[in-house]
Amino acid sequence: MVAVNLRTKSPKAKISKLPPTLDVDTTGTVKDLVAAISKATQLGLERIRLTLIDNTLLVPDTPLDKYDLQDNSIIYVKDLGYQIDWQTVFYVEYGGPLVIHLLFYFLQKPIYGKTYEHSATQKAVFYMVILHFLKRELETMFVHRFSNATMPLINIFKNSGHYWILSGFSLAYFCYGPSPRRDLPGYLFYGLIAFWAYSEVSNFITHLILSSLRPKGTRVRKIPYGYGFNLVACPNYFFEACSWLAVALLTRSWAATLFLIVSSVTMFLWSLKKQAAYKKEFGAKYPRNRKAMFPFIA
Ligand SMILES: NC(=O)c1ccc[n+]([C@@H]2O[C@H](COP(=O)([O-])OP(=O)(O)OC[C@H]3O[C@@H](n4cnc5c(N)ncnc54)[C@H](OP(=O)(O)O)[C@@H]3O)[C@@H](O)[C@H]2O)c1
Repeated sequence: MVAVNLRTKSPKAKISKLPPTLDVDTTGTVKDLVAAISKATQLGLERIRLTLIDNTLLVPDTPLDKYDLQDNSIIYVKDLGYQIDWQTVFYVEYGGPLVIHLLFYFLQKPIYGKTYEHSATQKAVFYMVILHFLKRELETMFVHRFSNATMPLINIFKNSGHYWILSGFSLAYFCYGPSPRRDLPGYLFYGLIAFWAYSEVSNFITHLILSSLRPKGTRVRKIPYGYGFNLVACPNYFFEACSWLAVALLTRSWAATLFLIVSSVTMFLWSLKKQAAYKKEFGAKYPRNRKAMFPFIA
């Protein structure tokens, strides 16, 4: 048994009822410690995040003795705020563009003021976007194995804003209007659709590989290998960017280009963080020459 000190990182993040010290049985797990803090503070278990003074995260299923806690060790407690189920966030953020594209494609008269025949590019982009987001919904249901059950409630607004506005409203509105750009010549048109299909299938394969690394119900994290992973840490992001590149080239619209740029920059920044986390966790075992997202580049 050790007596640890509980702190919040800043006075702003103060948690009322947080006891200054707590007796901890080091034969238990982090979950037991979280439960004790939850009982004292009345915060839900999923809202509590614990770190040590060197920023090491206390992972819930891990035995406490792994962290070498002593009398007077400091543990930082963070209230993550109201939480929401991860899957719900994904269903909502991907469901938005699905509904928005259906509305803009089929409600020509109320939205654009007249009816007309869609161009070949408009038809193609409609099916590509619908298939893309349906795939994402199905992957959320059947493929992904998330390590956290919940995320902060605010994320549903942030994430949905990104998808609903950029790949929903702006892409749909400017894509399906009555004066579309001229269709590309056949070889380019079908070439880009084939490139898009290749990127989507590749993205799906990388998701299957990630999912195979983690036994169901665990938080196990391993170094992924094969299908793009030998070149970059996040080939799933690379292939996702490739499919939106195909849409941007096909439509040559500023809306698709804007979504391509914003989402690629976002995924690149995430890939740098994931790359750093792999290096920190796996050290010398992590392949040295692997880039973050763009093969041979960065
Ligand atoms: N267009 C856009 O703006 C945009 C932006 C982001 C993502 N996306 C798309 O959404 C997909 C999913 O995004 P994401 O950010 O969730 O991808 P991700 O972080 O690479 O993870 C996908 C799944 O694999 C798990 N995972 C990742 N690395 C693992 C490892 N080393 N060992 C075991 N499991 C691991 C993750 O679990 P954890 O819960 O542990 O992370 C998660 O369930 C992307 O691949 C991309 O297609 C699109």
